[in-house]
Amino acid sequence: MRVLGIETSCDETGLAVYDTARGLLAQRVHSQVAMHRDFGGVVPELASRDHLHRVLPLLEEVLAASDSDGRSIDGIAVTEGPGLAGALLVGASIAHAISFAWGKPVIGVHHLEGHLLSPLLAPDPPEFPFLALLVSGGHTQLQRVDSAGTYTLLGDTLDDAAGEAFDKTAQLLGLGYPGGPAVSALADRAGAARPVFPRPMLHSGDLNFSFSGLKTAVLTEVRRRSPAGAPLGEADQAAIAAGFVDAVVDVLAAKALHALRAAGLKRLVVAGGVGANRQLRGRLTKDVATVGATVHFPPLDLCTDNGAMIALAGALRFTARKHGSPARAFGVRPRWLLQEA
Ligand code: KG4
Ligand code: ZN
Repeated sequence: MRVLGIETSCDETGLAVYDTARGLLAQRVHSQVAMHRDFGGVVPELASRDHLHRVLPLLEEVLAASDSDGRSIDGIAVTEGPGLAGALLVGASIAHAISFAWGKPVIGVHHLEGHLLSPLLAPDPPEFPFLALLVSGGHTQLQRVDSAGTYTLLGDTLDDAAGEAFDKTAQLLGLGYPGGPAVSALADRAGAARPVFPRPMLHSGDLNFSFSGLKTAVLTEVRRRSPAGAPLGEADQAAIAAGFVDAVVDVLAAKALHALRAAGLKRLVVAGGVGANRQLRGRLTKDVATVGATVHFPPLDLCTDNGAMIALAGALRFTARKHGSPARAFGVRPRWLLQEA
């Protein structure tokens, strides 16, 4: 079965064609990061308009690159939620229009299901069951994945996501958007002297996270070092970045290990943009070995938002329902729990 995947939930326009017999045939992603940078974050209305400009040219590209057309595509998978309502509507409109034109079914996919299954597209896919640490700009979750379609939410953030904390810290340090990579690079340049920030919920006894207090701690430290609000020197910036990274990595690694032990799982998969973080990767690689587990980091283009993971998740859903699923009514779900998908 061959599925066209469309992702427009936030600031990446992603299109892909996935074939259940041959794997990923083609994918294209356009990132809007440069466009949103001037505003210090994603501007929803600009995001929607840009998706509208990008989606059809990218569609033509993936169809050509995969040598597909309306006859060879068996179904269309589109991110139905969660995400920005206007951005989701662009993907949904295109998906339903193509479905109507080609006479092929369309299926709405949960964005997080795409992330959770994306490791299956990697050259060395993990076997089920595995624990997924999903760390992106919008989510920080621990999910137990027993099979495609069987997910158990073990832990979630009560406020800011890990990526959001990186981005806000970057802003407080006067770095650009998105700030994760810059904060990480600065932290590498710090010496041993660095502030010790709180480890939010490290000993909460559950698998939940909270990062908004950490952001406040960073702000307090910035003000302490620069009471008049002058820009910080690089040594101060680096020390604060390192203290922040230490705290986030400590909490993420401790909770992931706790979850592996509690769930009796031996494989950890890291998905989402923060999964690119060098310090987190290093720490998890070391830590999981102590509990006899392994950690998988899918290639970065599969960690960040893309159409391939949506095409794959859609293909698995189509197959499970033996192609019988009727076209859904047109709609999007900006707020949607995975367990309800
Ligand atoms: O998964 P993603 O591309 O987009 C969604 O949020 O869905 O994640 C983006 C987030 C941003 O917050 C960005 O700052 C963070 O991932 N990020 C990083 C790194 N690369 C990206 N955070 C820390 N270290 C990095 N190297
Ligand atoms: Zn995402």
